[in-house]
Amino acid sequence: MEKKGQVALVTGASSGIGRETARMLAEKGFQVIVAARRMERLNELAAQVQGIMPIGVDLSDLEDTDRFCQHVSGLSEPVSVLVNNAGYSLRGVLEDVPIKAAARMFQVNVFGLMQVTQACLPGMRRMRSGTIVNVSSMAGKFAFPGSGPYAATKHAVEALTDALRIEVRPFGIRVVAIRPGFIATEFNDVGNKMTGDLLARTDPDYRPVYETSGKGVGKMFVNATVPGPELIANIILEAILSDSPKAVYHAGLFSEEFLGQRSRLDDEGFDQYLSAKTGLNDLKL
Ligand SMILES: NC(=O)c1ccc[n+]([C@@H]2O[C@H](COP(=O)([O-])OP(=O)(O)OC[C@H]3O[C@@H](n4cnc5c(N)ncnc54)[C@H](OP(=O)(O)O)[C@@H]3O)[C@@H](O)[C@H]2O)c1
Repeated sequence: MEKKGQVALVTGASSGIGRETARMLAEKGFQVIVAARRMERLNELAAQVQGIMPIGVDLSDLEDTDRFCQHVSGLSEPVSVLVNNAGYSLRGVLEDVPIKAAARMFQVNVFGLMQVTQACLPGMRRMRSGTIVNVSSMAGKFAFPGSGPYAATKHAVEALTDALRIEVRPFGIRVVAIRPGFIATEFNDVGNKMTGDLLARTDPDYRPVYETSGKGVGKMFVNATVPGPELIANIILEAILSDSPKAVYHAGLFSEEFLGQRSRLDDEGFDQYLSAKTGLNDLKL
């Protein structure tokens, strides 16, 4: 398929999965609009790779996202590939996640994704073609304890993706979900920074919950190798370049194991499996 001159848009392209995806798309001949807040990172990428066009946007800000979307809708060459990748996580048991922080995360991970998609769809409908790739997570299909609100954003992304795929197929637009497992990017550090010191602010009742699940998850990572973002970027490229992309792709550390168990076990069985995995099955407080 000849891609020269086609326009792709990648959100969250200043690091990790988005940056690698943007780089690979540009190397395939796409004109790639890269969007994020850190313009210096986007400019650095543009200086390294031909065909990269940086635009700053803060997806947590409705008005700034509107401004960005108006720019995207007004492009003379419509976006034919959209990779909705920007996102971050907050940690904490439900009681410890402030509503304002959860709402901001939903704004970036869910409503921002909707806004940008709404800006790209009219052009794709006019062309009767296009590909939308939504970067979900394995946490789009189940929820780790201590990470419910983040998983809720990715469950929302899955629902939007599933409905949209069927809504726009008649126009020749393909819609794909990607479910990464653990991937070595800045994601973990950003999550820590956005969450703050949970142990310092939680009710002492919850300390053993955090400590036990922290140890349980820590055990899983002993001897594990966390793959880099190229793994997911390659899969995104595979979906975009395919004549008939799958509805869903997954890859990354533990994605096969957790998603496999989630589809094999019933709700009760999966609850027991995850409780045991996180060491919380035996905890009585
Ligand atoms: N890494 C993993 O283990 C993993 C696993 C499952 C799913 N995912 C998903 O993969 C996607 C990419 O994450 P990553 O691992 O590549 O993490 P990353 O390296 O932290 O990249 C996240 C990207 O999102 C952008 N972003 C965050 N907040 C934004 C905002 N308010 N406005 C605009 N852009 C914003 C960041 O850009 P700026 O900070 O410059 O704005 C950055 O480019 C996310 O949706 C994440 O949920 C990651």
